[in-house]
Amino acid sequence: MYVQIKNLHYQYQNSSKPTIKDFSLNIDQGETVTILGESGSGKSTILRIIAGLETPKSGSISIDGKIVVDERHFVTPENRGIGMVFQDYALFPHMTVAKNIIYGLRKMNRKQKADRLDEMLELVNLTDFKYRYPYELSGGQQQRVALARALAPSPSLLVFDEPFSNLDANLQVKIRDDIYTILKKTGVTSIFVTHDQADARVLADRIVFIENGMINRVGPPEEVLGCASLLMWANSN
Ligand SMILES: Nc1ncnc2c1ncn2[C@@H]1O[C@H](COP(=O)(O)OP(=O)(O)OP(=O)(O)O)[C@@H](O)[C@H]1O
Ligand SMILES: [Mg+2]
Repeated sequence: MYVQIKNLHYQYQNSSKPTIKDFSLNIDQGETVTILGESGSGKSTILRIIAGLETPKSGSISIDGKIVVDERHFVTPENRGIGMVFQDYALFPHMTVAKNIIYGLRKMNRKQKADRLDEMLELVNLTDFKYRYPYELSGGQQQRVALARALAPSPSLLVFDEPFSNLDANLQVKIRDDIYTILKKTGVTSIFVTHDQADARVLADRIVFIENGMINRVGPPEEVLGCASLLMWANSN
């Protein structure tokens, strides 16, 4: 199993009750798993624990056979080899598209960086935008730069936290399809957090439906999206 998450428990310091309760999940190499759940169900918290931005109270995570956190180990976020794409893109505003993308490629020499940059620009279809600044790009283009930046260092795992929520509906569908194509082309293992069932249906090999920090259901999209508790939640929105 490529990613192994076992029995995670987590509680924010200023919170009176646990946020994540006994979360376990195995992910195959190259698989895209979508974590689907309503606002406040704990989706972002799970990603933050996986990325190393929070430390679980108990439980363990290993990636490609290496423990990144358990009761005795803690690998820092920058050493986990995890690429992250968030809702607000988080591009560096004073850097060009090119500089943003090569930012994480510290270990490469100049030639390797230039080659990798061109490869990434081609992948996200932004070759002509190399020397633009983020403010000179549309929201969808900025999101593709964010994806290229996350993919450039060849992460072992890519995590997305609601990356479409700032985009209008048409663009959302377009960039979702783009991301799907790019994920399949690169074969990267990924976890995608969303409260949008349509996102989950399109992107997921498997959906994890969470409620109140606990897994309610895991399975292929057609199975999970039809389950009673999810339908109840969907109808109440
Ligand atoms: N820093 C924090 N301190 C205390 N409680 C927090 C903190 N961050 C989040 N929470 C709480 O933890 C719970 C889970 O939050 P989380 O951000 O993981 O939800 P989410 O599923 O990502 O929601 P959304 O869809 O709105 O982004 C919520 O009840 C939230 O209020
Ligand atoms: Mg969230």
